[in-house]
Amino acid sequence: EWAWKDNADNHLIRLNGEVVFDDVSFGYRENKTVLHNISIHAKPGQKIALVGSTGSGKTTVINLLSRFYDVPAENGRILYDGVPLNEIKKDDLRRSLGMVLQDTHLFTGTIFDNIKYGNLEASRAQVLEAAKLANADGFIRHLENGYDTVISGDGANLSQGQRQLLAIARAAVANPPVLVLDEATSSIDTRTEALIQTGMDRLMKGRTVFVIAHRLSTVRNADEILVLEKGSIIERGTHESLINQKGRYYHLYTGNSISIE
Ligand SMILES: Nc1ncnc2c1ncn2[C@@H]1O[C@H](COP(=O)(O)OP(=O)(O)OP(=O)(O)O)[C@@H](O)[C@H]1O
Ligand SMILES: [Mg+2]
Repeated sequence: EWAWKDNADNHLIRLNGEVVFDDVSFGYRENKTVLHNISIHAKPGQKIALVGSTGSGKTTVINLLSRFYDVPAENGRILYDGVPLNEIKKDDLRRSLGMVLQDTHLFTGTIFDNIKYGNLEASRAQVLEAAKLANADGFIRHLENGYDTVISGDGANLSQGQRQLLAIARAAVANPPVLVLDEATSSIDTRTEALIQTGMDRLMKGRTVFVIAHRLSTVRNADEILVLEKGSIIERGTHESLINQKGRYYHLYTGNSISIE
C-alpha cells in the first residue's frame, strides 16, 4: 500500500496512480519548444502507449513525468493523484514510480542485491517472488551460484535479455503504482523475448503504465495510444480505432516506419 503524506497535517492519502498532463508545453532550451500543449489523463491502472518517429518527444514526456526536468508554472501542470508534481519530493516520486528503461544500470554485486536495489527493505522471499514474477528466476537458478552469482557492473557477463529480466524484477520488487517503460528495440532471441513479454505483462497488471511502445502486443493492449509528431499529439485512441481512422498511426503501422515489430 502506498500513501502520500500531507505536509500540512501529516495525514496519509492513498496513492492511486492517477496521472494528468494538463496542457503542458516544454523545451530543454529557451526558444525551442519540444512539447506543445500535451494533455493526457491516465486513470489508475490504465496503460498509455507513446508512439511516434524519432525526435517526436516520447522520451521527453517520460522525462517530465519522472521529474528529470520540471515544467515552468506558466507552461501547464502535471498532477499525480491531484498533487502538482513539483510539490512531490523527488525521492518520494522516484520511489513510487517504477522505471524499466532501455539500458538497465547494474552494479558490481550479486544478482540478489541487484534486484533488491528496487526496494532495499525487501526480504529475501520478496526478492525471489519478484524474480519469479519477472520470469527471471529460471535463468538465475541456472547460474553457477544462483542468486548469489556476482555480476560485473556493466552486466557484461549477462545477455541483453537477461539484463532486461533483471530490470523487470527490480521494478517488481519495488511494487510501484505507476510504471514507466521504454521498451527495448534490440533483437533478442525468441525464447527470451517471450519470457520478457510475459514478465512485462505481469509487471504492468494493476498499475498505471506509460510505455514507449515498440512491441505490437503492447500497443494492442494499451487503453490509449498517443501518436506524437514534432512534439504534438496528433492522434489518440485504441489500436482498433486508430487503424480504422487510417491516419498517421495506420500509415506508421502498415508502412513499418513505426518501430513496432
Ligand atoms: N537533453 C536534451 N537537451 C536538448 N534537447 C533535447 C534533449 N533531449 C531531447 N532533446 C530534443 O527534444 C526533441 C524530442 O526528443 P525525444 O528524446 O523526446 O524524442 P523521442 O521521441 O524519444 O525520440 P527517439 O524515438 O529517437 O527516442 C528532439 O528534437 C531532441 O533533439
Ligand atoms: Mg526516446
